[in-house]
Amino acid sequence: MDGHPTTDIPLLFAPLNIRGATVRNRIVIAPMSMYCAENGFPTDFHAHHYAQFAIGGAGIVCVEQASVTRVGRITNGCLGIWSDEHAEALKPIAGFIKSQGAVPTLQIAHAGRKASAQRAWEGNGPLTAENIQNGDESWTPVGPSDLAFADGWLQPHALTIPEIHEHAVYFAKGAVRALEAGFDIIEIHMAHGYLLQSFLSPLANKRNDQYGGSLENRMRFPLEVATAVRAAIPQDTPLFVRISAVDWIEGGWEIEDSVVFSRELKKIGVDVIDCSSGGNLVMGATNASFRRAPGYQAEFARRIKAETGIQTQAVGLIRTAQLANELLESGHADLIAIGRQALFNPNWPHHAAEEMGMTRAFKHWPHQYGWWLEKWKSGLSANGETLNVR
Ligand SMILES: Cc1cc2nc3c(=O)[nH]c(=O)nc-3n(C[C@H](O)[C@H](O)[C@H](O)COP(=O)(O)O)c2cc1C
Repeated sequence: MDGHPTTDIPLLFAPLNIRGATVRNRIVIAPMSMYCAENGFPTDFHAHHYAQFAIGGAGIVCVEQASVTRVGRITNGCLGIWSDEHAEALKPIAGFIKSQGAVPTLQIAHAGRKASAQRAWEGNGPLTAENIQNGDESWTPVGPSDLAFADGWLQPHALTIPEIHEHAVYFAKGAVRALEAGFDIIEIHMAHGYLLQSFLSPLANKRNDQYGGSLENRMRFPLEVATAVRAAIPQDTPLFVRISAVDWIEGGWEIEDSVVFSRELKKIGVDVIDCSSGGNLVMGATNASFRRAPGYQAEFARRIKAETGIQTQAVGLIRTAQLANELLESGHADLIAIGRQALFNPNWPHHAAEEMGMTRAFKHWPHQYGWWLEKWKSGLSANGETLNVR
């Protein structure tokens, strides 16, 4: 960037090749559901929302979880990728992200027993009579067992073995549609208590057949999904998997399990493990009542990378360029995802570049902005003012 010799480039801004994709820097916009889709279709809000991150300079923009079946949506406002029409509707979003030099990812998902719920800002709980009166549809969720997520939540239908096989196909078809829509990376959502993670976690999976019980059995369905998706997409398409590295609950999924699981995913041809956590408690993974330190999940990414050799993505309260770069330089991860900080400041990657001395004169910003900002900044400096977004 901006004439700096390659060796001086902080890792945060060093490009990364993953299979056929070249990512311009290590900053990923974390998948963040906006809960305002209509029948699974994106709205104008989505188009503008994702556009700002692509303009903002991220290397990868990960579009929020899109469900591979209609009943796999968390809420009535979640995106879908269960039909060709849904893929068609996502094309402009993927296309615009790419036009700005970022790589578009789609996170493909199934909510499992946490489906048919309220949008985040409505409470994140099971649908109420009022929600339904206001137009939300309610449906029977599916899961590994007929155990509800928590008190008051709908009892799921426990998937039969033929249905488990069908679901692996739904994921594979969702991935193919995502590529048709123009996404260049697929991320499979295997975290946060949703369908695939609920098979992994002994807290949710109470099956007695070959899909429950031992760790090997609990991993079987998620590994079958990864295998089906890998087989359905071209060799040069990167495949990411988001996991909950731990349940944060005694008797639940532990980091040692994640290491074993990541090793298996690597054998299948998964390229990056995106290391999140939690989701099997009623409180969500981002719940503010948890007191978490900056980079609180990065240790999981470090351990998985060190013990399996797979590339990892760290996420969770990474808000400063310095911390993001340190986590890369210290070998914790290969990519850094930022979520809420990007909602707060979509231009975070540009500001991080500036802060790390990567650029002068706004040359890395889109021309439409950079040309003006350079002159504006000089004028402000002449008045003794400094720019500060933090
Ligand atoms: C509004 C919002 C929506 C989210 N939706 C998703 C999602 O669709 N898929 C997912 O895996 N994680 C989702 N998450 C979790 C984020 O991807 C991320 O892991 C989390 O916010 C922690 O990172 P942060 O501290 O940088 O925000 C969501 C988080 C937020 C704030």
